[in-house]
Amino acid sequence: MHESVFDRSAPKPELYAALAGSLRSLIADEADPIANLANSAALVWEALPDINWAGFYLDRGGELVLGPFQGRPACVRIPLGKGVCGTAAARRETVVVEDVNRFPGHIACDAASRSEIVVPLVRGGRLVGVLDVDAPKTGRFDEDDRRGLEAVAALVAAKLPADGF
Ligand code: SME
Repeated sequence: MHESVFDRSAPKPELYAALAGSLRSLIADEADPIANLANSAALVWEALPDINWAGFYLDRGGELVLGPFQGRPACVRIPLGKGVCGTAAARRETVVVEDVNRFPGHIACDAASRSEIVVPLVRGGRLVGVLDVDAPKTGRFDEDDRRGLEAVAALVAAKLPADGF
């Protein structure tokens, strides 16, 4: 039974350390990728304040397809190179967007979203998908969030099958 209670008002490095510790034990003993992605999205959702969407898009033959998430229903398919998710996936690097209205090509899934961070999931040198977190206020994500969510993405990616799923 999962019983973590996060202090969402803690300094970000502390909060992300607690999130990483909790995530490690939550996914350690399970091999099913969908179960682990679903619980990871739920844990990020539970831990982070001021967000309105947290979840995964998975690379399905050069197109990102919606995976497990928390938040409002979202657009299902995003071509590589499109939107914030497709840009992070194509570049294989984290993209932090201070103000989504100023990001050309941003794909609005939830009209409430104002800022966003997308971290690629790479396993065995291969892009598996992305972790996407949206916030209802501008400038929600900074370097602490980048570091923290890159650690989350690394933990999740390491548990995914290297040969696809
Ligand atoms: N805003 C994203 C689309 C996904 S939703 O935010 C859940 C993008 O521009 O890629």
